[in-house]
Amino acid sequence: MKTKVLWGKDLAQEVIQRVASQIKVLKTTVGRMPGLAVVLVGNDPPSQIYVSHKTRACERAGIRSLGHHLSSHTTMEEILYLIQRLNTQEEVDGILVQLPLPPHLNQSKILGSIDPNKDVDGFHPYNMGKLSLGEESIAPCTPKGVMALLDYYGIPVEGREVVVVGASNIVGKPLALMLVNRMATVTICHIMTKDLAIHTQRAEIVFTATGVPHLVKRDMVREGAIIVDIGISRKQGKIVGDADFQGLQGWARAITPVPGGVGPMTVAMLMENTLQAFRMRARTR
Ligand code: GUN
Repeated sequence: MKTKVLWGKDLAQEVIQRVASQIKVLKTTVGRMPGLAVVLVGNDPPSQIYVSHKTRACERAGIRSLGHHLSSHTTMEEILYLIQRLNTQEEVDGILVQLPLPPHLNQSKILGSIDPNKDVDGFHPYNMGKLSLGEESIAPCTPKGVMALLDYYGIPVEGREVVVVGASNIVGKPLALMLVNRMATVTICHIMTKDLAIHTQRAEIVFTATGVPHLVKRDMVREGAIIVDIGISRKQGKIVGDADFQGLQGWARAITPVPGGVGPMTVAMLMENTLQAFRMRARTR
């Protein structure tokens, strides 16, 4: 079986171009461009790279990015004060707090302090609650990017047996909700799952988001399975995903590459979400 590679990078460019052309039109009626505040706390190297990708995408989309790089010693009071200011700042349509945060900060309280209408990451309890009710408002970027990729390649999920490996609040849980909202039969596996392979072998589509390099191998999935690799880690200096990309060639029906698969879609969905927040705010003024 020839394994199809599900690239995300070209689709992400297309999405960003589409966002850019919509912003071009809207800008004249609203009287300004959309603004995205990006809050980065500390000096985590991968976070710095992700933030630079997001800032670059903003330039291409016609979104004004307002960077707030804070020291790793920032206190809760300081960060909550900044978010309050951003919540009320007229030219800020979206607020993104890059994760992970230094361990002394209360992530849940910080994410909960963002105005849900400006919550372009979709992590606020209101937006996560809407997602769980099947009434998506602003939805988390990575799972939204995964669904957009599946749609683009014409891969339906309705009625299919799917497994999500990883139960994080950022990816695994919201992705499982999106899949169940689309009537897939969903199993969620995580670090305490006793025998991962039993579950993954049953799946028609395996979604994996653990950050464990090459966790998902050929003998763990059925022939003809579709593998959506949302993991990203470094192995001997190289960026790799959760799936053994080489070992799955000729066995899987389709697989997303790392890098160049889901990653660029996350950034493109952030541009879409910022446009969505800009539209929502323009409508209510
Ligand atoms: N860290 C890893 N993924 C994400 C994401 O989608 N949003 C934010 N804010 N931080 C992240």
